[in-house]
Amino acid sequence: MLPDIIQLIYLVATGIFIVGIKRLGSPATARSGNQLAALGMFIGIVITLFDQQIISFEYIIGGIVLGSAIGAFAAKKVEMTSMPEMVAIFNGFGGGASALVAWGEFTRVADPNVLSGQDLVTMGLSILIGSITFTGSFIAFGKLKGFISGNPLTFPGQNFFNAILTIGSLGLVGWLAFDPTNMLVFWILFGIALLLGILTVLPIGGADMPVVISLLNSYSGLAASMAGFVINNNLLIISGALVGAAGLILTNIMCQAMNRSLGNVLFGAFGGDNGGGDGGPAADTDKTVRETTAQDVALQCAYADKVVITPGYGLAVAQAQHVLKEVVDKLEKKGVEVKYGIHPVAGRMPGHMNVLLAEADVPYDQLYDMEQINPEFKSTDVVLIIGANDVVNPAAKTTEGSPIYGMPILDVDEAKRTIVFKRSLSPGFAGIDNALFYEETNQMFFGDAKDSLQALSQALNDV
Ligand code: TAP
Repeated sequence: MLPDIIQLIYLVATGIFIVGIKRLGSPATARSGNQLAALGMFIGIVITLFDQQIISFEYIIGGIVLGSAIGAFAAKKVEMTSMPEMVAIFNGFGGGASALVAWGEFTRVADPNVLSGQDLVTMGLSILIGSITFTGSFIAFGKLKGFISGNPLTFPGQNFFNAILTIGSLGLVGWLAFDPTNMLVFWILFGIALLLGILTVLPIGGADMPVVISLLNSYSGLAASMAGFVINNNLLIISGALVGAAGLILTNIMCQAMNRSLGNVLFGAFGGDNGGGDGGPAADTDKTVRETTAQDVALQCAYADKVVITPGYGLAVAQAQHVLKEVVDKLEKKGVEVKYGIHPVAGRMPGHMNVLLAEADVPYDQLYDMEQINPEFKSTDVVLIIGANDVVNPAAKTTEGSPIYGMPILDVDEAKRTIVFKRSLSPGFAGIDNALFYEETNQMFFGDAKDSLQALSQALNDV
């Protein structure tokens, strides 16, 4: 095929990617955005096969069939709560693939007479970043799955040691550019990069893994972009840069929503195993809470003008989104105005709650961002807080020195009544007590969120 036509089709695929990413910005268009981006990738793959001098297609077709089958199976099977693990694995493979591309090119044409210093530097960087992404992502996966302890694994001088390794590996990239036939330098660089991925993720707490995964996603994009320079492929350069930028933006959004710096996430050794949410001990306090029942909650909601639902991680754990929708439908039939207030880091990954509620066919126009819903709490009769904790903790506004101090939260404490659905008084991700539980206007509805909502749904039939 003519080189100009190939470049033109690459441009079309790039345009499709960009439109696809733009459409991911709203839940209403996200599904088609994802499909568009997949179409762009498909066009990219097909046209690359025409672009390169392919000698034999057997391995390529075999790889495509096997890879697509594994990808489709994994995507169908994965639980919503395990999505971060799957993304971690995909990132790891993405980074690994870029490192392999660079390795292949390096062993094929590592000749200073053929390649410029710039080419050799990009090859070295692709190997470095790709390998860090590969091992780092698998450690992140292990931490989320529980194969590796979710607690920060640290040793004295770790940050200093990692800094030395980072500087050393960059030095080796430079060395390789001057001495590309030196295979010993090449292998040492590879080894250090793989080790760096492990050592930089091990000290980070399991609960911070979504931020790490987003950052590694950005790395995998950078590695792909570098690999694009190595093999002179514009589509790879552009799509890698898009992934790199998108990952960085997302990392930044998550850090801001938690009011933490990236440095604090990466080097702060914050947050242990699952970050709570799995039924730890009750808070050690002599303050009293007011318990409530399904019948009482049903009465309060049925006679309210306006109810706001604020979901959190516990909703995902309990898989209670469908029965929640059932409850909301019943309330709306009784003439109650119901809205959902979604905190940007409610749950354990970006957009977790939106995806979960979309799964239960909750209309998008009922979902309100934190900034939109916060001014409405003053005029809200009842807020149902379903499996959420940190994102409604007033300590973020009042308690200086608290790990969440300064984090923007949902101002549920301004509503006339709050009702918290959770199993105990145990803390959430940040590991701290929640003053909201003891407020006079608050009631606790203890139990698994799904069981409690089922009971509420039943009780609403009798109101
Ligand atoms: P959390 O503060 O973690 O609280 C979740 C609560 O759900 C727990 O207190 C737990 O209490 C309850 N729960 C667990 N299983 C339940 C079940 N089966 N039924 C009912 N309740 C259940 O969650 P959140 O309010 O959504 O806040 C998210 C936290 O994660 C924030 O601190 C955020 O910074 C952090 N984080 C989020 C992200 C993203 S991007 N979403 C990324 C990194 C970190 P019980 O054990 O008493 O039931």
